[in-house]
Amino acid sequence: MIIAQNISKDFNGIQAVKDISFQVKEGQTLVLLGTSGCGKTTTLKILNRLIEPSSGAVRINGEDIFSLKPEMLRRSIGYVSQNSGLFPHYTVAENIAIVPKLLGWDQKKIRQRSEDLLRQLKLSVTEYAGKYPDELSGGEKQRVALARALASDPPVLLMDEPFGALDPITRAAVQKEFLELPELKSKTIVLVTHDVQEAFALGDQICLMDKGGIMQTGTPKELIFGPENEFSRNFFSHQRLQLELSALKFKDIWKELPDAKRGSEASLESAQSLWEGMELLAENNQEMLSVINADTDSVKEITIQTIQSVYLEIKRNR
Ligand SMILES: Nc1ncnc2c1ncn2[C@@H]1O[C@H](COP(=O)(O)OP(=O)(O)OP(=O)(O)O)[C@@H](O)[C@H]1O
Ligand SMILES: [Mg+2]
Repeated sequence: MIIAQNISKDFNGIQAVKDISFQVKEGQTLVLLGTSGCGKTTTLKILNRLIEPSSGAVRINGEDIFSLKPEMLRRSIGYVSQNSGLFPHYTVAENIAIVPKLLGWDQKKIRQRSEDLLRQLKLSVTEYAGKYPDELSGGEKQRVALARALASDPPVLLMDEPFGALDPITRAAVQKEFLELPELKSKTIVLVTHDVQEAFALGDQICLMDKGGIMQTGTPKELIFGPENEFSRNFFSHQRLQLELSALKFKDIWKELPDAKRGSEASLESAQSLWEGMELLAENNQEMLSVINADTDSVKEITIQTIQSVYLEIKRNR
C-alpha cells in the first residue's frame, strides 16, 4: 500500500532524514520509533507532502504521490498531527466535518458520520459536538483529531504521537481501545512514537530510527530477539524482559500449553501476549487463567509457572 524508496530530506544542509526506505502492506501498521529529533515527523510529513523530500520516491496504492496535487492526495490520507492540529475557531463537529465538506457530502450524511465517530471514540455527542478545542483536555483533543482523520474513511492513516498527551495509565487504556476500534482494523497506518511499549503494542512492523536513518526494521519479535546491531540491542535493554514477553503471543507457544478443563471461561485470546497474561494473573490475583484460540476453537490454561518455564526454554534455545 505504501512504498517509500530512498527518501532524504535536508533542511539548509542538515540531513534530517537520510536515505530511508520502507513498505507497509495493506491493513498493517508500521511504527516509526526513535528518540526526539531522529526524523520521525519529517518522514511522516513526506508521505502526505506536507514536506517535500530532497530526493526519493513514494508510491501509495500504486500511485506516485508526486504526480498528484497535494490537496487531492491528502483527501485519501487521514492525518493526526503531533499537536492535534484542531482549528481553534471551529467546534468539534465542524472540525470533523472539514474533509467530508470538501468532498461535497450532504449535511445529513456529515452529521451522521461525525456523531457515529464521536460515539466510537467514547465522546458523548450532546456534550462534545458543540465544544471548541480549548474546552477539551489533551486526551479529548487527540480523540477528536483521530475522529477528524477518520471522517471520510480514508484507506491510509498517518498518526504522529497520537497518544502523546496522555498519562501512562490512560495511554495504555486508549491504546487498547484503539486496537479494538472496528474502524481501524482495515486501515493501513503509519504511526510515530518514541514509546517502546506503544510501538510493541501497536506495530506489525517497527522501523527503529536514529539520526535520520533506519537502524533496523522488523516485527517486535525480530527486533527484540534478533537485534542486528549494537544500537538495536542497546535501545531495548532497559525493558528487555517486559518487551520479550510482550513480543511473544500465546499462539506462538500454543503447543507448549496444557489444555484447559472443559467449559472453562477464557479471559484471554491467543493473539495476546505473555506479558498481558502475566498482568491479568497478577491483577486478578488468580493462579490460573484460560486462553482461547478462536481459529482452532481450543482453550488452554496458563499459570505464572508455565509462562516462566516456556519463556526460559525459548531463551535457552536462542
Ligand atoms: N522546518 C525545519 N527546518 C529546519 N530543521 C528542521 C525542520 N523540521 C525539522 N528539523 C530538524 O530535523 C530533525 C528531525 O526533526 P523531526 O521533527 O522529524 O524529529 P522527530 O523525530 O519527529 O522528533 P520529536 O520526537 O521530538 O517530535 C531535527 O533535528 C529538527 O531540528
Ligand atoms: Mg516529531
